[in-house]
Amino acid sequence: MNKFQREVAITRNEPVARDTYALRVHFPELSAIVEPGQFVTMRVNDTLNPLLRRPYSVSRPIGDECEFLYYVIGKGTRILARKRVGDTVNILGPLGNSFGFNGDYETAVLVGGGIGVAPFPFLTSRLVDHGKKVVTFLGARTAEMVLSDNLVNLQVATDDGTAGFHGTVVDCMDDWFGAHSVAKPKIFSCGPTPMLAAVQSWSLGRGIPCELSLESEMACGFGICQGCPVEHRHAERTYALVCTDGPCFNAEDITFKRP
Ligand SMILES: Cc1cc2nc3c(=O)[nH]c(=O)nc-3n(C[C@H](O)[C@H](O)[C@H](O)COP(=O)(O)OP(=O)(O)OC[C@H]3O[C@@H](n4cnc5c(N)ncnc54)[C@H](O)[C@@H]3O)c2cc1C
Ligand code: FES
Repeated sequence: MNKFQREVAITRNEPVARDTYALRVHFPELSAIVEPGQFVTMRVNDTLNPLLRRPYSVSRPIGDECEFLYYVIGKGTRILARKRVGDTVNILGPLGNSFGFNGDYETAVLVGGGIGVAPFPFLTSRLVDHGKKVVTFLGARTAEMVLSDNLVNLQVATDDGTAGFHGTVVDCMDDWFGAHSVAKPKIFSCGPTPMLAAVQSWSLGRGIPCELSLESEMACGFGICQGCPVEHRHAERTYALVCTDGPCFNAEDITFKRP
């Protein structure tokens, strides 16, 4: 697939939840070909190590623009949060694979933790276009951090009980499945690794197909530095690279390292 690297203009950059921003850029070549689950890398300025670009999922294409959701956590995202409409950012993408949203299932169960919900608006619109039912489980630390825009059929869980279910998103999903009959489900999950490991164990234990979008620190983002390995049952070299073989993997193929 083609990749494009462009210095693109910012058309929106504003807070949408605590420490979380929506960034929109004008990038027609990207919005025309990107698929749900794919990501880009961004270079936010020339002074921060220019070799270390930061990876971000495309949250949704909107006409000639692409929107991203980012959580302000370190140097790069602090610089990004200070950018204004009309400033530019250097973006390379699309990178990685997409969620396997085609296939023989009826209900897509989206399970996101924190900023892991970023790719779900795009995934949701594709699933709805493909006639799938969608139910979305969102986990957040507290009510102010819930990111629910452009998602459907929401079940919210917060660690502190300030919104929705009081507890983890996996316990919330377990409760919900206990009370509802779900036609031919398939799970799509993105979020922090401990949450993904819990979703993996829950889905495999019930024989429910599941895809996980993995997080990893990345240097190059396109398979050169070998810096994003994950243990993989079927890869020729026993591991796969999150940036090129993923970030989306079948849950049964992945072994998470024990902490
Ligand atoms: C495929 C992929 C898609 C991503 N999509 C998004 C997204 O849509 N929105 C979003 O906010 N973030 C996303 N991330 C995570 C994002 O890349 C990091 O949060 C970002 O690089 C932090 O940059 P920084 O310069 O602000 O932080 P740094 O100063 O580089 O690091 C701050 C802290 O964050 C940790 N960190 C850095 N990168 C990662 C990482 N990739 N995963 C876990 N911890 C990390 C560091 O260890 C450190 O503790 C994604 C990561 C991957 C691999
Ligand atoms: S980030 Fe360099 S190989 Fe994956």
